[in-house]
This record gives sequence, structure tokens and C-alpha cells, in this order.
Amino acid sequence: MTTDALDIAPFPADFRWGVATAAYQIEGAAREGGRGPSIWDTFANVDHLTLNGDNGDIACDHYHRWADDLDLMASLGISHYRLSLSWVRLQPTGRGDLNPEGVAFYTALLEGMRERGITPMVTLYHWDLPQPLEDAGGWPARETAYLFADYADRTVRALGHLARDWITINEPWCVAFLGYGRGAHAPGKKDPRLAVAAAHHVNLAHGLAVSAIRAIDPGLRVGNSNIVTDIVPASSSAADAEAVVRLDAMSNRVFLDPVYLGDYSTAVRELFAPLGLDALVDDGDLAVIGQPVDFVGMNHYQRVEAWHDDDGTYLRVGERPASPATTSFGWSVIPESLGAVLRRVSRDFTSLPIYITENGASYNDYVDPDGQVNDHDRVAYFGGYLAAAGRAIEEGVDLRGYYAWSFLDNFEWAEGYSKRFGLVFVDYRDQTRIPKRSAHWYAHQIARHRSSV
Ligand code: NOJ
Repeated sequence: MTTDALDIAPFPADFRWGVATAAYQIEGAAREGGRGPSIWDTFANVDHLTLNGDNGDIACDHYHRWADDLDLMASLGISHYRLSLSWVRLQPTGRGDLNPEGVAFYTALLEGMRERGITPMVTLYHWDLPQPLEDAGGWPARETAYLFADYADRTVRALGHLARDWITINEPWCVAFLGYGRGAHAPGKKDPRLAVAAAHHVNLAHGLAVSAIRAIDPGLRVGNSNIVTDIVPASSSAADAEAVVRLDAMSNRVFLDPVYLGDYSTAVRELFAPLGLDALVDDGDLAVIGQPVDFVGMNHYQRVEAWHDDDGTYLRVGERPASPATTSFGWSVIPESLGAVLRRVSRDFTSLPIYITENGASYNDYVDPDGQVNDHDRVAYFGGYLAAAGRAIEEGVDLRGYYAWSFLDNFEWAEGYSKRFGLVFVDYRDQTRIPKRSAHWYAHQIARHRSSV
């Protein structure tokens, strides 16, 4: 047991100590239970665009091992779990009736959490768009937003009695700009106009789903999860300051502005006008997107430095991690970046309660000869970022919970199984789970907090 202690005094008595995962990254069973193909099945298995050709066919086999996984979670004292539902398990073609086997799976899972005293936060969309909807135009097509709202409506009718907290969409930025702009994620398109259309339609999908969920049960709590990146200029030049404004518009504001402030800001409109944003925004869209939500879900990983780079693309920005102390992804480790984005969101966007719905780091973990995984770097990462979160609370940020990414090592999208983010090590050869030193450390902080309140 590590002794690295976190100052737990700033965390309120009902603070949520959670972990997070996503369906495609852990479930496996890709062709079982009536599940249909998603854009990630295609990206991995048809287009072969992931590292080593890795795919989520088996992943952590959580579909078959969920009860043991929940037992392990409960044994660590983890009281809150953010999971996602697979759209293609629930609605295999993206249209029409829900698949009873999918409903049965998630009913058992959510009831299993209830039996173990674990409170869910359920994400409706963590990137597994049904392939038939991509074939019909994907997120750049407006109709996809309405189909998502229909899926949300049917799903919350079926499962809403088992979870109070609902997240519409995880990281719209990745959906739009990695999926349709850079092509690094499914469906692998590289066209900034498509990315901007996807961005607006993902925003619209969020708003339409909020309306649908409210109509079913006004007692449910709804929000979304944005990745909020801390962006600083690489120099004190005016050109680099403007580069920050552009990168921030693309990374953060195009999603934060309409949801929390009710409109796209000038920075966003100026950046995306040449790519057709204005023509995408129909009358009434902004009211739908900007309707009140109940909380902010914030994913945060790193601080980046930006500079002006006249390379001819629409963004004209260069960016790099802002520190030499990096994760195995090469991402920066600067705990105060979490404090910076928490303060910024609560100062400039909304005073709603905030949940950190993801934060974590990948390292090259391995099992020692004595069977232990001594991930000291991850312990330091969580210790540093949680301490920064505690300081933000002391400064007045209404932070209510923290969901570590991730509970298990899992399928890290384009990077396949090469990046381990888990508190729990997964041996993919035989699906053994080994709680890492960081899992024991996290459990210890939870126990300390629990006994202090
Ligand atoms: C954010 C995504 O939501 C999650 O799926 C991913 O694994 C982590 N970032 C780490 O890259």
C-alpha cells in the first residue's frame, strides 16, 4: 500500500469517487446479443486503421465478465461508475425498436450496480455510431441528430428507472474533428467542412436528446461531457495569442458556447464561417442546444502550447504538449492545467455543478515478477490532478465528483491496446485483472475520505 497521501479536506462529504469506461473499449462480444456494426467495427476491421489492426471484438470481454468486474469495483470502495451504452447493442441499425437482448444486458448491468451500491452515470453516445447511419451521411447529416434523439428517447424509456444521471454525448470534439476532420478516428474522414457540420449536428443531437429525456422524466439529471483542453501560447507574440483563440474555438468553444452560453461566439463564427457554419444553423437550433442542463461533465487530460503556423489549413496553428514530463501517449503532465480549466468553465461559462467525467494517464505498465503492477507514475498523476481539483474547490469551484479514466486497461481507439489507462491491469491473453498500485492508492484515498466525514 502506498502512503502518498492526498489532502482530502477540500472534498465535500458527498463527493463522488468514481471510475469511467466506454462500451466499445471494454465490452467485446461484438457479434453477440444481436449487436449491429458500428463505425468503429468498420474503422478497425474493414479499413484497418488502428495500430496493429487491433479491434474491440473481444476487448476486456466485459460483456461476459461484468459481474466480476463490478465485484472488483465494489471491493475497491468505488461508489460511482460512469459507463456508456452501445448504440448498436440497443438499436443495431440505428433505427426502430430496441433490441431486447441489448436492453436485457444493460438492465442486468445497472441492476448489478444497484445491488453493489454503485451509482451509475450513463453516457448515451461514446462514439459507436451505427454503420448504416454513417452510410446515410453520418454526423455531417442533420438527420443523424434526430435519429440520436430517437435512440435516446427509447433507451431512457427502457432504462431510465435504473439511472438518474445521463450524459448525452462524450467528447463532441473527438466525434467531429478526429472523426471527420483529421480522420484519426472513425469514420476516418478528412474534410474540415464535414467536421464543422458534424460539430453542429452533435450539438443539436445533444439538445434534442435533453428535450427527449426531460419529457420522459423531469427528475432525471442530464448533461454532456466535453474534453476541455488548457491551451497556452508558445510565446508572448500577438500572432501566437491569436493562434490560441483559434485552437480554443475549435477544441473547446464550438461545443461549450452553444450549450452553456446559448450561441456560437464571434471567435467560433469567424473561424468556421468559411467552412459553412452559418448555413447549418437553422432557426430554433440554438434554443434547443442551449436549453438548461443539470451539470457539466468535463474530461480533461492536458495542457498544450499553440503557435501561429501559416501552413495554409483553416486553423493555422501548431500545437504540442506543454511539458516535457509526458505520459506514454506523449501528453503533458501539468496538474494545474486541471485547476485552470475548472476555474475557466465556472467563471466564463456556467455556475452549474461540475463533474470531472474523465481524467487519467497512459503508462507502459507491466506485471512484476511478484505479480504486482507498480504504476508509480499513475499514482503521482492522480495525486497531482486530484490535489489541483481540491485547490479549485477551495477557491469556490463547485466540483462534485471525479471519475478516473479508466477502471480497466482497454481498447484505446486508434492506438489499440498499446496504451494502458487502467487502475486495473488487464492481461489480454487470459483476461486476468490485476488492480495496480494506483487502484490501491485510489481505494485508500476513498476510505480516508469516507472515514473523515
Ligand atoms: C477520452 C475518451 O473519452 C476515452 O474514450 C479515451 O480512452 C480517453 N480520452 C483517453 O484517450
